[in-house]
Amino acid sequence: MLDDYERLRHGCDAIRAVARMNIELKAVDRDPAATLARCLGLGATDGGVLRQRDVYFMARRGRLKLRVEEGALGGELIAYRRTDAFQPTDSTYIRAAVAAPEHLAEALEATLGSVAVVTKRRHLFLWEGVRIHLDEVDDLGSFIELEAVLPDAGDLEAAQEKVVRLRGEFGISDDALVAVGYADLVMEGPQVLLLAASEAMENAYAPYSDFKVGAAVRARSGAIYAGANVENVAYPQGQCAEASALGALVAAGESAITAVAVVAERLEVCTPCGGCRQRLSEFGGVDTPVYLGRPGSEFLTVTLGELLPGAFDREALQG
Ligand code: THU
Repeated sequence: MLDDYERLRHGCDAIRAVARMNIELKAVDRDPAATLARCLGLGATDGGVLRQRDVYFMARRGRLKLRVEEGALGGELIAYRRTDAFQPTDSTYIRAAVAAPEHLAEALEATLGSVAVVTKRRHLFLWEGVRIHLDEVDDLGSFIELEAVLPDAGDLEAAQEKVVRLRGEFGISDDALVAVGYADLVMEGPQVLLLAASEAMENAYAPYSDFKVGAAVRARSGAIYAGANVENVAYPQGQCAEASALGALVAAGESAITAVAVVAERLEVCTPCGGCRQRLSEFGGVDTPVYLGRPGSEFLTVTLGELLPGAFDREALQG
């Protein structure tokens, strides 16, 4: 069966979008002046300074952003998915040139809705097929990004080696590594999830309890799946919001969650019911965070392990 991205790629080939593989690493840059000096010392080619504005939209699978560069005529729509990781990761992305980015932004805003806006000043360097980004991100600070583009940087193994070598050259320590995208940092992860849960909650079908609940899970791909409670006149047939969100996750072909949010209309902090704690534990780990509250205000963070200690798990089946 064709993977979603494969399908997307085939479709996009027709409109000449570019699908590529990357090996990436991102880290906080505590000394931008020293990093710049090292870059020049390596003999990297200076690609100039860019000012970029990325608007992230609520995507059903992976991530979707519209990039506009200062002084450029058009823009670029970039679809990608990446597993949040500290090691150099491969990330498949599709870039499509956009002639009228402001109109596309309007269309996407009206249909999908945006979740974050990230503006940054990027000083670009090129070294043996690896892009080195020295980024000053508004509200976030300085970062260095290493992006080995395949096949320019060689095959997968060669590209990985180059990124590891550059990491050594720049002295990037483990504690400086950043596993998530700028959009997640800007939106603080929890806020986006709480927002998705809250939007789903608005559509809850709860005429019997009048207790609307929304839940959202973040999948390993970075995509968010949300659901609402669905009640029934035959009361036991009702379904909790968490179960609806997990159904959407599985229907989209995913089965691992990295975070959860639960929002209720009439309760500031709505803890998942016992059954849903077990349901969520099926797809997350004991450390998976669960955000309880409302978007834009104080919320409580607990873990799945705290919500359901001693969960019945797969190991139990082994006897
Ligand atoms: N509910 C949820 O959707 N999730 C929970 O974790 C707690 C309860 C729903 C089920 C029912 O439709 C309503 O809230 C009242 O129990």
